[in-house]
Amino acid sequence: MLSAEQNEIITRVGPGTPAGSLLRRYWQPAALVDELVGNRPVKAVRLFGEDLVMFRDERGRYGLIGRHCPHRGTDLAFGRLEDGGLRCAFHGWLFDVAGRCLETPAEPEDSNLRANVRQKSYPVVEKSGILFAYMGPGAPPAFPHFDCFIAPASHTFAFKGMIDCNWLQSLEVGIDPVHTSFLHRFFHDEDPSRGYGKLFRDTSIDSDMPMSRIMREFPRPRIEIEPTDFGFRVVTLRQISEKKTHVRVTNLTFPNAFVIPMSREMTITQWHVPIDDEKHYWYAIFTSFGAPVDKDEMRRQRLALYELPDYIPNRNKHNNYGFDPDEQAHETYTGMGADINVHDQWACESMGAIQDRTQEHLGTSDKAIVAYRRLLRQAIEQAGRGTTPLMVLDARQAEAITGPPAIDGIAPADDWQGYWRRTDAAKRKAASWAHGQ
Ligand code: FES
Ligand SMILES: [Fe+2]
Repeated sequence: MLSAEQNEIITRVGPGTPAGSLLRRYWQPAALVDELVGNRPVKAVRLFGEDLVMFRDERGRYGLIGRHCPHRGTDLAFGRLEDGGLRCAFHGWLFDVAGRCLETPAEPEDSNLRANVRQKSYPVVEKSGILFAYMGPGAPPAFPHFDCFIAPASHTFAFKGMIDCNWLQSLEVGIDPVHTSFLHRFFHDEDPSRGYGKLFRDTSIDSDMPMSRIMREFPRPRIEIEPTDFGFRVVTLRQISEKKTHVRVTNLTFPNAFVIPMSREMTITQWHVPIDDEKHYWYAIFTSFGAPVDKDEMRRQRLALYELPDYIPNRNKHNNYGFDPDEQAHETYTGMGADINVHDQWACESMGAIQDRTQEHLGTSDKAIVAYRRLLRQAIEQAGRGTTPLMVLDARQAEAITGPPAIDGIAPADDWQGYWRRTDAAKRKAASWAHGQ
């Protein structure tokens, strides 16, 4: 349980807020590369409460600049993409990717006005299908050498979805290893041939014990939190017999992402990125350690569930997430269909726009959430004091931040530590691009 003031400090993200200032010290997902394809790669982006516009110029450079023209404030998202930048449709002022004003065509030819105009701009880089922006002070940090960033393009796929509440709720759901036994419970196990690209329904983990059955039948796991150089590892243990333990290794990668196994081959790295205090996007990179990712199939599965251009899920609070009491009685725990993102969405959004954490009662099974809030508060305090917070990396430090292992499998009950490390090592060895751990 937090005080109202503590809750404000860790949730609010506008310019100048404690958590907002901290999160701006890191590269943050701002758009999918998929959103800037076609003849006119221009896209309005709201990020951390700031209204911006992303575009790609003729030279292939990405820019993220303030959305309102510094002349008279009209919307640059409707601008003309031409002549080395984005041109305002009102009086033709032209801006490049760095926010420089290149032309003010209605001004006298000898006017120097443009030299005094600088539009807000943030650097953008593309990584594995996501366009990341840096909104903080000074030089941006280096990217850690995580698997999702070093894997070849053929082995990654990126997607996103909007969630109608504060970012922290979703991050806290994502690192909670217990809710899968309840929120994502399926009363029947799926045909394994239909499990591709779907979390918790892959049956390849154990021949006689599909994932959905393990989650259903062992709802009271032991949870170990292990501090790491990127945040912490969560090891979740479900002892399924005297000899066998189900072990699931997931990771909190500071500040606002986690890395979890999706199947034997694939992992998911997922960020929760504020649009503003009361809305956010999840962004995910799916990384395969085996065969190339079937991007068309991954995209097809997901596009059927989301409404573009804003990536709003078809099932949402306005239609009660498709809640069906008959399904809840017989098929799923929530009665909200088989897409686990919908379950998570409901869990996060139903807490309210910003969860009132003065009213919560955390238990032993919430230890990852407690550990995360501690890290977050520490980093906010460090950033406020002027010391470098966790994961603000220089190039040399970034090279040492690799992995992280994300494993799901059945271990010998007396050697689950050895099991997950061996499994991870074998997986990395098989993928030519992966760093050994
Ligand atoms: S408002 Fe943009 S050029 Fe005048
Ligand atoms: Fe979940």
